[in-house]
Amino acid sequence: MANTSKPSFYITTPIYYVNAAPHLGTAYCTMLCDVQARYRRAAGYDVKFLTGMDEHGEKVAEAAAAHGFDTPQAWCDSQAPLFKNLWRELEISNDDFIRTTEPRQHHAVQYLWERMKESGYLYKGSYDGWYCVPEETYFTENQVKKSDEERETPGQHLCPDCGRPLERVQEESYFFKLSAFQDRLLKLYDEHPDFVQPAFRMNEVRSFVEGGLTDLSVSRTSFDWGIPVPFDDGHVTYVWFDALLNYMTAVGYSLDDEASRAEYAHRWPAQYHVVGKDIIRFHCVIWPAMLMAIGEPLPEHVFAHGFLTVRNAETGKAEKMSKSRGNAIAPQDVVDLLGVEGYRYYFMTDVAHGEDSAISFERMEQVYNADLANSWGNLVSRSLNMSAKYFDGKTPELEADWAKKDSPLRAIACGIYARYAERMDVMDYVGAKDVVMELVHAANHYIEDTAPWAVAKDEARAGELSDIIVNLLESIRIAAHLLEPFMPETSAEVLRRMSLAGEADTCDLAGACEWGGLAGGVEVTKGDALFPRLASDKK
Ligand code: MSP
Repeated sequence: MANTSKPSFYITTPIYYVNAAPHLGTAYCTMLCDVQARYRRAAGYDVKFLTGMDEHGEKVAEAAAAHGFDTPQAWCDSQAPLFKNLWRELEISNDDFIRTTEPRQHHAVQYLWERMKESGYLYKGSYDGWYCVPEETYFTENQVKKSDEERETPGQHLCPDCGRPLERVQEESYFFKLSAFQDRLLKLYDEHPDFVQPAFRMNEVRSFVEGGLTDLSVSRTSFDWGIPVPFDDGHVTYVWFDALLNYMTAVGYSLDDEASRAEYAHRWPAQYHVVGKDIIRFHCVIWPAMLMAIGEPLPEHVFAHGFLTVRNAETGKAEKMSKSRGNAIAPQDVVDLLGVEGYRYYFMTDVAHGEDSAISFERMEQVYNADLANSWGNLVSRSLNMSAKYFDGKTPELEADWAKKDSPLRAIACGIYARYAERMDVMDYVGAKDVVMELVHAANHYIEDTAPWAVAKDEARAGELSDIIVNLLESIRIAAHLLEPFMPETSAEVLRRMSLAGEADTCDLAGACEWGGLAGGVEVTKGDALFPRLASDKK
């Protein structure tokens, strides 16, 4: 149930087609949302984080048949645990998991049809054109011809987007009058330049809309794995018309009881839809137009990320990782190498903001060893060991004004939250990580510069030793908070080792990152290495 005393932050992943097991690409998108959801919870928002499965459409029906299942529903039921279990393993903290075959989605989609009918933006006609089943996308004769010419393969009729063979579709269909929304969409982009993020993706969306919009076929009669159109037997809903609505279904759209209406008012519009760049048109053109047609508020931002790519050994070219290309890496392979927290850290902080990124195990190891084993893990273990050794298994006792004393680490930590939040707010996790690692690296240098082991030999310098260890532990405490969205278990463990277990679940991250939160004279646990160095790294 919504906590309406806090501001709502509603974030969604795309819902995944149930045509194959989830891979690194799917997990990447889900993790981007998870990091944002955890950050916002810690920053005091009432978060709803939604993910789920897109179960209708020809592609899923074909996958079900290919796997020998009697019905698409039975196939989807068999796949749901794969997704749910993987998300648990990867510490994905979604609050809801929607499946488009659930009654709530059936109800909402049929309600949408009625609203569309009333809106005047729906008409019946007949569709004659091309359809790409893997992309679940329509293409006009002209689009296909143009793409054939560009490829110099006339007559083959391959999908202009993914290059796979197209299917000819000729059938009666309902159409959504997308063409009527061109001006309103362009106005939306002008008035809300951050509707599409990162900013460079906006140009792509704008020029697509400026090129003219054709009405969209939104029902099918030639197959039946979809939600029936309530006022016309034999028509089922086009899979994207169904899928996009999931974002509203999950927050009570179409339900008339008081609790659902309150939930919808609190949650909608969503703050972020996070999507891959391949489905940006659906989210930045079709979806806002649908919402304009039925008079519902538009989501605040659509964040489009790039693709994880794999280098093709023969051609040397980077290719999108996908099941159908046979180049997908299973998340388990990365978990086995880096552990879950290392996996999360690597993908969230080493893949450039919104860009494609080539994946390699060598790079994963480098980042893990440099940032986690040598820097963060080493800082924690050295500092806690020294605190335990020099202060009788405890953190030093704190003087009344300790937090006001100048130190190079305090200088870096001061204002760190604002710099970090500025990057996190726009999902620039690489930038946010750089802010935190600046403090971590500075703390490691500080150990070398101050040489606490030498200071400890001189009893007259006891005060100095205490200051050094306090500065280190306080920097670690703050870095643990800031790294929590990326590596929640590690941060909780670090805080536990400093007898600050209760602090891990803060909902005042800004306050928690103020210099001065350390507990003095409390037990310190040395513990095992957080990130044992990976042996195969030669450096
Ligand atoms: N079902 C639709 C989404 C409907 S949302 C209302 C769909 N599903 S999908 O399973 O094909 O893709 C889901 C998401 O996974 C997309 O955002 C896509 O970009 C992402 N990825 C699939 N392969 C990927 C990579 N190799 N790298 C990064 N993300 C990729 O589209």
